[in-house]
Amino acid sequence: MAYPATRMRRLRRKGVLRELVRETELSPGHLIQPLFVVHGEGVREPIQGMPDVERFSISELVAEVTEVQAAGIRAVLLFGVPAAKDELGSGAYDKQGIVQMALQAVKEAHPELVVITDLCLCAYTSHGHCGFVRDGEVDNDITLELLAKTAISHADAGADAVAPSDMMDGRVGAIRSQLDEEGHPNLPIVAYSAKYASAFYGPFRAVAESTPEFGDRCGYQMDPANAAEAVREARLDIEEGADVVMVKPATPYLDVIRRVKDETGAPVAAYHVSGEYSMLKAAAQNGWLDEKQAALETLTSIRRAGADMIVTYYAKQAAAWLD
Ligand code: PBG
Repeated sequence: MAYPATRMRRLRRKGVLRELVRETELSPGHLIQPLFVVHGEGVREPIQGMPDVERFSISELVAEVTEVQAAGIRAVLLFGVPAAKDELGSGAYDKQGIVQMALQAVKEAHPELVVITDLCLCAYTSHGHCGFVRDGEVDNDITLELLAKTAISHADAGADAVAPSDMMDGRVGAIRSQLDEEGHPNLPIVAYSAKYASAFYGPFRAVAESTPEFGDRCGYQMDPANAAEAVREARLDIEEGADVVMVKPATPYLDVIRRVKDETGAPVAAYHVSGEYSMLKAAAQNGWLDEKQAALETLTSIRRAGADMIVTYYAKQAAAWLD
């Protein structure tokens, strides 16, 4: 029966009552902290456009992980910035590469931490594209071999999961079969399944030094106008062996997160990307938004949309706020 028999405000009057009927939970266990590792000693570089995010050299990274874990975050997504780049992106699958060395150091110091590695060539290729370029175009099938090789090198160095972010067709299958063949049948794949060609990656590309030298990524990343296609992408990745499917960015694509969750039933990750983070930070620094409230509301909305886990530059800060 409607008003006055029903008064929705009755359960909003006290914090405890509100908590009893809360539908969505946000806790540090749902958050994954992205981390950037660079060559050098004692390096902690602030990043233009991303306040409170830094690039760390290996020993600094190990120290940062101690803090991230103390805040309550148990999983990180690792990105490497190599010293040199070439056409084949060979730094990506170098056994002595930056990610491989960082993995060994981090896992030795923090064996219980879950380290997921971003699997892509864009930070390692001289042209900044996510694959091998032939005749001005990213060649899908040659790129698959390089990605599979990279996955093995991460697995051998101690990764707990690999996260391919290149958007080549068939890469999950190629990586899965190579991992299985080379003794890593239990290593999960977190596939960036619906990764959009987004303006919100701007700050990240400055950090990872991965801006394409020519053209853009529209030939492989998804058109922001499409949602049914995201479901197809996720289904294909699951068929090829993906354990988690990801939607990226998060807040402009909350409808896509919901559809992928409902239509696949698979574990879903959402990536709250650099530009989404920068917008909140900029507004907060200008005194235009209450940062804690706005950030937690944003992360809650991503969970409410259906994401099981959220990759966010706010992970460590949010964990402290949630404590
Ligand atoms: C690499 C990659 C990108 C991001 C994650 N992995 C950028 C891109 O595709 O250009 C974006 C992350 C962010 O903006 O926070 N392929």
